[in-house]
Amino acid sequence: MSVKHIITLRNRQGMQIKLSDWGATWLSCVVPIAEEKRELLLGCQTFEQYQQQDAYLGATIGRYANRIANAEIDIAGKHYQLTANQGVNQLHGGKLGFDKQLWKIESQSEQQVIFSLISPDGDQGYPGELKVAASYTLTDDNQVIIEYHANTTKCTPVNLTNHAYFNLDGETNNVLGHSLKVNANYYLPVDANGIPSNDLLNVTEDDMDLRQLRLLSDNLFGSSARKITGGYDHAYLLDSSKPVAAQLVSSDKKVTMNLTTSYPALQVYTGNFLTHTPNRHNGVYANFAGVALEAQFLPDSPHHPTWPQSSCFLEPGQTYLQQICYQFCIN
Ligand code: GLA
Repeated sequence: MSVKHIITLRNRQGMQIKLSDWGATWLSCVVPIAEEKRELLLGCQTFEQYQQQDAYLGATIGRYANRIANAEIDIAGKHYQLTANQGVNQLHGGKLGFDKQLWKIESQSEQQVIFSLISPDGDQGYPGELKVAASYTLTDDNQVIIEYHANTTKCTPVNLTNHAYFNLDGETNNVLGHSLKVNANYYLPVDANGIPSNDLLNVTEDDMDLRQLRLLSDNLFGSSARKITGGYDHAYLLDSSKPVAAQLVSSDKKVTMNLTTSYPALQVYTGNFLTHTPNRHNGVYANFAGVALEAQFLPDSPHHPTWPQSSCFLEPGQTYLQQICYQFCIN
């Protein structure tokens, strides 16, 4: 049995986050609001439950976040069959993705932890040995900064992200009363399997516009794009001229989370299939209990080299470096 650890980071504002080397997972995020200590993340009670659930709660996702159609890629004329784990497609790096690995704790201090992982050549079908580091830093102005570094021995697609689900109300209700803003002019329509079904569309198509703060419940099932996926489960191409990628506001307006990132896209997922996922309180979550905002490359990017974003392929000699920052503001 491998030993799993829980690491706690604390800042001068009394904010506290917990992480684990299992999946380099973000377990908990507690902020003080007057006398209240509010938990802002969905999570389970035990490691056994984390291992049983399939919602990727708080986990580090890799080697390739989101879906790759038909679980296959071609690189420089060579065909690679990847492990399929959602029908014929691959989701979040395959059957044994980075979320299911025990990472090494490279270093640990009061406000930072760095995890590392070596993904061998051929892991889940991918070419090249990939050395990965994921660092979590909690700053004194309530920012959680995640940084990913990676190097490879062969050209491979890489798309690392975190799959935290937020409920800024402290899990007292579902997130449909939260408001969300995403600075994006385009989104990707998908089929019922989450595979891009067309090219990028303007967000004004099918009522997918989130450029102004908008209640998540607003016309949730009224859009044909959202009907296919049972709620939001879509990638938005971020407007890089805007400093903040997304803003999420709790129903009671006491907590605002600002998300900034170096990534070109953001997957917005309203927890449409969360039902039965074990929660922290001896029970289970219902659908829409949390919203995941996953900064990443657009889904299935290896098959769409002409999309307007930088390449998701990492070459030997290059260093992969991406950042996601969540700042929690108490009003
Ligand atoms: C994963 C994805 C989400 C969503 C769910 C559906 O968690 O990250 O975007 O598609 O699967 O189960």
